[in-house]
Amino acid sequence: MKKFSKILLSLIIISTFLLLAGCQNRALDYEQVGEDERIVIKFSHVVSESTPKGMAARRFAQLVHDRTDGRVEVQVYPNSQLYMDGEEIDALINNHVQLVAPATAKMTEYFPELLLFDLPFIFENYSQVHRFIDSEAGQDLLKKLRSENMLTLSMWDNGFKVMTSNRPLHKPDDFLNLRFRIMPSRVLDAQFVQLGARARDLPFSDVYAALESRQVDAAENTPSNIYTKKFYLVQEHMTVSNHGYLGYLVLTNEKFWSELPDDIRIILKDTLDEVTEWEREIAQQQNTRDLQLIINTEQIEVYHLSESEKAIWKKALLPVHQMFLPQIGIELLQQIPQVD
Ligand code: SIN
Repeated sequence: MKKFSKILLSLIIISTFLLLAGCQNRALDYEQVGEDERIVIKFSHVVSESTPKGMAARRFAQLVHDRTDGRVEVQVYPNSQLYMDGEEIDALINNHVQLVAPATAKMTEYFPELLLFDLPFIFENYSQVHRFIDSEAGQDLLKKLRSENMLTLSMWDNGFKVMTSNRPLHKPDDFLNLRFRIMPSRVLDAQFVQLGARARDLPFSDVYAALESRQVDAAENTPSNIYTKKFYLVQEHMTVSNHGYLGYLVLTNEKFWSELPDDIRIILKDTLDEVTEWEREIAQQQNTRDLQLIINTEQIEVYHLSESEKAIWKKALLPVHQMFLPQIGIELLQQIPQVD
């Protein structure tokens, strides 16, 4: 009996030791931490996972997981799975999601200076956009883009827009009376009105159905969005005009961000900066590749606007620049660098 008590005591001591050692390991391994100790960041967006934004969101989630040993989990919800356009900003303000990356056009209602990015032919290429964003004026602008619980963390590229339609679009007159789907931006509306067309603001998730059912006749978007959402199946003509830039604000909920532990906030910001650099490289490659893939489908007639035709479009659209000077500010417009 005495021997049995000794064995029992030893067993209790060993199990207590193992239990304590186990707890210590668990505290060090964030893969094992309970739900309440883990920081969950919901990242909602409206496009496909295989677009520049979709890929950057996934890369960010993976790098953050690795760099925090699983303590921070970024859950990415693509394709308007959680919220569609118009809803995701409210969701961010109410902290139902903690990261979103809407097109700048969709934020012009909150920050009118962003109308600049929608001006037709304001940027010729990615390098000009990046030199502007990275300049003092561009960085000052990004810092100003904060309001009621919204904070801008970064700006990501998609690329340059092309036109799709049910009739060929080679010259300004070809736009007459066509109904275009647009993102909610007064500049985009004015751009089509200036060409004699009409514009209708629709969420991205409704575009395919609207084109298919002929609620609208035409649209503008980047090759990566057109390819991944198969808009080329419900349009007959595409004009490679590169007439406008489509980029994104990466936004967080300001209260959520400021309450993060300092070490975590630093990891998140450094990772986001790194992903922003990476996204700039893949966005251009992906749009070039997706344009070629659209051409290869032979489902849509693709027309490349010549330089002289482009000059005619530019001239026709110049009044749109004049119209929005007061809202954007001449000082900001003057900060856009020359094309290199
Ligand atoms: C996006 O790229 O996020 C969507 C753009 C659009 O609404 O056309």
